[in-house]
Amino acid sequence: MNRDVAKRAAANAAVALVEDGMTVGLGTGSTAAMFVNALAERVQQDKLREVTCVATSESVAGRAITMGLRVVDLINEIDLAVDGADEVAFPDLRLIKGLGGALVREKIVAEAARRFIIIVDSGKLVDRLGIHVPLPVEIIAFGAEQTCRRILSLGVGARFRSLPEGGKVISDNGNPIVDCYIGPERDVAWTNDLIRAMAGVIETGYFDTEIERVIVGDCSGTVKQLIAPAKKMVCRDVN
Ligand code: 5RP
Repeated sequence: MNRDVAKRAAANAAVALVEDGMTVGLGTGSTAAMFVNALAERVQQDKLREVTCVATSESVAGRAITMGLRVVDLINEIDLAVDGADEVAFPDLRLIKGLGGALVREKIVAEAARRFIIIVDSGKLVDRLGIHVPLPVEIIAFGAEQTCRRILSLGVGARFRSLPEGGKVISDNGNPIVDCYIGPERDVAWTNDLIRAMAGVIETGYFDTEIERVIVGDCSGTVKQLIAPAKKMVCRDVN
């Protein structure tokens, strides 16, 4: 499968959702980078005049600025955030993200966004999360070995993400990342809750955040859009 064609198709479909005056959250990764390219192109063509961006990593901030986009700190709500994912569970649209190491800022931006949109190629759709990719977990540097051992004690495979030249990968926030191998026997949501409850754990790449839609590109350049099921209405008596 030509994944680049698929990723670009999804990115182009997402850019069509951006309107003048919006604050747009920029995700991290190769698919999100294609969205940045497409957004910059629309701005250069003068089709969008006033777009402000919030970046989920230093690398995407640099890319966006180089391409002429205006990047600001996250202070106010974001109108629309567009990001990639490592796995998308279908049909419930939960995600694993963070193989690019930006999971904490990505989650903060997703939660600050009125509309959160995921762009992926069709190879990212799965029935169950956590079987083919690890769950990334960002932890505090203090006591990191001990925190990693505590994750291992849950019966989950866990190892520090490392650089090809040796040494730990360190996130933009200055923290190591532990990749956790959940496997088919464990439920990712349940395991995620246990990991998140540990002191020293900052955040995980399990996203059950409200997602408006997932735009899925395929190698022929067509896209389909998976829309999140409507929220359940809960009625309560007030007296
Ligand atoms: C980075 C991420 C990325 O969105 C995820 O890794 C997907 O990247 P790509 O589009 O390159 O496959 O979560 O932290």
